[in-house]
Amino acid sequence: MTSSHLGVQELNSRYGIEGKVHFAAGKGGLVSVLVKNRYASACIFLQGAHVTHFQPEGQQPVLWLSNRSAYQEGKAIRGGIPLCWPWFGDHPDDPTKPAHGFVRTSLWEVLETWETADGVTLVRLRLEDDEASRRIWPNSFQLELRVLVGRSLVVALVARNTGKTPFPCGGALHSYFLVGAVESIEIFGLDGCDYLDKIDHFSRGRQGGTVRLAGETDRIYVNTADVCTIKDPVLSRYVTVAKKGSNSTVIWNPGPRKSATMPDMDRNGYRQMVCVETANAADDTILLPPGGMHILQAEISPYPK
Ligand code: BG6
Repeated sequence: MTSSHLGVQELNSRYGIEGKVHFAAGKGGLVSVLVKNRYASACIFLQGAHVTHFQPEGQQPVLWLSNRSAYQEGKAIRGGIPLCWPWFGDHPDDPTKPAHGFVRTSLWEVLETWETADGVTLVRLRLEDDEASRRIWPNSFQLELRVLVGRSLVVALVARNTGKTPFPCGGALHSYFLVGAVESIEIFGLDGCDYLDKIDHFSRGRQGGTVRLAGETDRIYVNTADVCTIKDPVLSRYVTVAKKGSNSTVIWNPGPRKSATMPDMDRNGYRQMVCVETANAADDTILLPPGGMHILQAEISPYPK
């Protein structure tokens, strides 16, 4: 029996760590892993291996989470870090397939929980292809999500091709960050990068200076592996996103008009969030050969001023 079919009691007896790692039926009855250690607290839902919360001790939460999100089987949670895989955005040639792939709504199993000698907590979750996934995408794969909760949050999505044919694989750690006021933030690290502007028919542009957001913004910055830093003068902090295995960065904010049409977002919710996504999208989609492995990783570190 895989751990995705276990009840919270069984999960706690196999994988719980006294005072540090606890499984609970979260909102909508969806099972979540609550982590608390000397550095921070965090929450991960087994549906989607979705990190919804990360808050270092004595600081504000780092991730934004919509207070109108649906918590429902088969529905993606709005906020935190949804996992987009094996494609980013719309499916390249079949609009009937789910946007951002299917793993953000799949039920993952628990592989291991662990505490390092210096008190950092590791949670490992796994997802493999099954009949339902092969109906959407006919490939054999194994995914593992490693989440390390310490002063920083490290999220690593390990993808393996367990089949006999190569497959294209894009995706994103679609992280939503809590900000004081979106119009006041600046994002460093993308100066001089080319981007595809999704709200202008994927037209190409080039970033000059820091990114400042005014209204709806939806851009795939390509061919960039650099660290991004969000400077937030209202919350008086910097948040850095350091990447590995990622050659695109997506910046997204729906702005007032689009967010008013989104049922899982507050009217003014867009003002308190920005997505800075560790991605491989568009030009940067990878071809994973049989037996191949790829790790998409983000290390998220807040620095209060
Ligand atoms: C971003 C995309 O990554 O995700 C946007 O660039 C999209 O185009 C947004 O609107 C949210 O997607 P979803 O499927 O979670 O509503």
